[in-house]
Amino acid sequence: MSCQSRLILPRTNILPLGEMQIRRVADVWLIVRAQDVHQRQIISRGTHMNDMALRDRTFGEALPQQAFRITVKLWFSVAAVGHWIFLLYILAAFFPPIAEHGLEGLKGSHLPSGFVEGDTFGNLTSIIHVLLAALIIGGGPLQLIPAVRNSFPTFHRWLGRSYLFAAVSSSTGGLYMTWARSPIGDAFTNLGISGDAVLIIIFAAFAVYHAIGRRIKQHRRWALRLFMAASAVWFFRVGLMGWTMLTGGIGIDWESFTGPFLYVLGFAQYLLPLAILEWYFYCQRQSTPRVLVTFSATLFVLTAFMTFGIFAATMGLWLPRM
Ligand code: HEM
Repeated sequence: MSCQSRLILPRTNILPLGEMQIRRVADVWLIVRAQDVHQRQIISRGTHMNDMALRDRTFGEALPQQAFRITVKLWFSVAAVGHWIFLLYILAAFFPPIAEHGLEGLKGSHLPSGFVEGDTFGNLTSIIHVLLAALIIGGGPLQLIPAVRNSFPTFHRWLGRSYLFAAVSSSTGGLYMTWARSPIGDAFTNLGISGDAVLIIIFAAFAVYHAIGRRIKQHRRWALRLFMAASAVWFFRVGLMGWTMLTGGIGIDWESFTGPFLYVLGFAQYLLPLAILEWYFYCQRQSTPRVLVTFSATLFVLTAFMTFGIFAATMGLWLPRM
C-alpha cells in the first residue's frame, strides 16, 4: 500500500482541511490557507503525504483559527443583541414624548439636563442627541454584518453616511452638553467622555478619507475603530451595571456620579474595546496558534462579562424605563 493511499489522498490535487487546503503543485504538497489560495500563502510544504508531523501541524493551526473565528462571531452576536436592546430602550423612552411635546419632550425625563427652562439651543441639542442615538446604536452592528453589506450595498452606503453624520453630530452636541449643561460628574469624568468625542471625530474623518480613495481595507479598519468609539456609551452602561451587580458598586459615589471606578470606566469605555480591536487586527496579520488562543480566551472571558453586563443593564436601566 502506498503512503498516499493510506491517507486516501492521491486522486485529487486539492484537499479541503477545515480552514486549510492541501494542494499538489507538481510533486510538492503545499498546505495553504483556503481563503488565501489565490495569494499562494504557504503554511507548510512537504513531498510525502505520510508526513504525520505535517498533518498534525495543519490541525494544530486550524483549531486556533477556528477558535478565533468562533469567539469573534460570538462576541459580535452578543454585542449586536445588546445594542438592539439599548435601541429598543431609546425608541421607547425618548421618541414618544418628543413626538408629543416637541422641544419640551425631555421635560421631567430621567436625564438631569435633558430639559432646562429657557435654554432652547441646549434643549434642542439634547433632543437631537437622543434621537440620533437610535441611528448609531441600531445601525452600527448592521454595518458590520457581511451579509447585509454584500446583499444590500446601497443600503450599506447610505446607512454608513448617516451613521458617520450621526456619530460626529452627537459627539459635538455631547461635548456641549457635557461642559455647558450636565450637572453630574466632575472634570475628570467629563475629560473621559470628551476623549471619546474627539476620537469619534478623528476616526470618522479617516473612514471617509479612505472610502473616498477606495482604499477598502483601510476604510474597514477605521470604520471598525469608529464603531468601537461610537459604542462607548453602550460599553459604559454594560460595564457600569455589570460591575454594580457583581460588587454592589465599589468605587462609585452615586450622589455625585464620581469615584475611582467611574474615572477608570470613563476612559476604559473606549480604550479597552479599541485595544482589543487592535489586537484583533494583529491576530489577522500574525496568526500564530499561541497568539490566536490567547486572544480567543481573553475575548471569551470579556464576552461572558459583557453578557452579564447586558443582562444587568437591561434589568436595572432599560426595562424599567421602557
Ligand atoms: C456618539 C455616540 C453616542 C450615543 C449613541 C449617545 C447616546 C446617548 C443616550 C441614549 C443618552 C441618554 C442617556 C440614557 O437615557 O441612558 C445620552 C445622554 C448623554 N450623552 Fe450621549 N451619546 C453618544 C456620545 C456622547 C458623547 C461623545 C458625549 C460627550 C462628549 C455625550 C454626552 C452625553 C450627555 C452629557 C448625556 C446626558 C444628558 C443629560 O444628562 O441630560 N454623549 N447619550
